[in-house]
Amino acid sequence: RGAGATARDLAGRHVLISAGGTREPLDPVRFLGNRSSGKQGYALARTAVARGARVTLVAANTALPDPAGARVVPVSTARELREAVLAAAPAADAVVMAAAVADFRPGAYAASKIKKVEGEEPAPITLVRNPDVLAEISADRARPGQVIAGFAAETDDVLAGGRAKLARKGCDLLVVNEVGERKTFGAEENEAVVLGADGSTTPVPFGPKEALADTVWDLIAARLP
Ligand code: CTP
Ligand code: CA
Repeated sequence: RGAGATARDLAGRHVLISAGGTREPLDPVRFLGNRSSGKQGYALARTAVARGARVTLVAANTALPDPAGARVVPVSTARELREAVLAAAPAADAVVMAAAVADFRPGAYAASKIKKVEGEEPAPITLVRNPDVLAEISADRARPGQVIAGFAAETDDVLAGGRAKLARKGCDLLVVNEVGERKTFGAEENEAVVLGADGSTTPVPFGPKEALADTVWDLIAARLP
């Protein structure tokens, strides 16, 4: 666990966490989704409560028990997640965007179930861009001194990709995971590098998601005014 894990160093602080994965509906029975379980975001919520923080958890389509002591705001789509995050951000000393937010949603929603038509090819699904919540809250800070962290799953050149994404998003910290077997999606353990906008690089060895969460809170606590 991180250095601050045994201390109540977040007492008096309010933290906002997003977790899970958004779903973008196509029709009343179908959606485009992703594999995020929400486990890392829930570990962040539990560890923040343990360190004394008041916690708001915006949870997108998770199937996990509510972390004791956290306020849970359920959402489904990226646009609902954006509304919930923007509503809670002004009261938050720190925001951690652990949710997998869909970059795109279907351009049209069919109010009735899409049916097969005998002898016809299916209609293509057109996609439109969703808002980038992390970039938006980072560019337009709801509170002076607010510390904002994001998560990124990368393949290929993980560090270079992470550095570029950190700069593009404008957040203070970016937790970069290398995507691979046994790692990240649905797993209990995680390995990551936390990049800071100040140029810092903090490697986090393969271990429980709680340990990564505590390291994130250590880095955030050190940056809070
Ligand atoms: N994020 C967000 N809103 C989006 C997409 C992503 O707030 N519409 C946040 C995620 O919660 C995460 C961070 O941005 O904390 C990085 O997400 P990622 O998908 O890695 O970044 P993208 O900019 O979408 O890059 P890519 O094209 O690699 O998916
Ligand atoms: Ca994305």
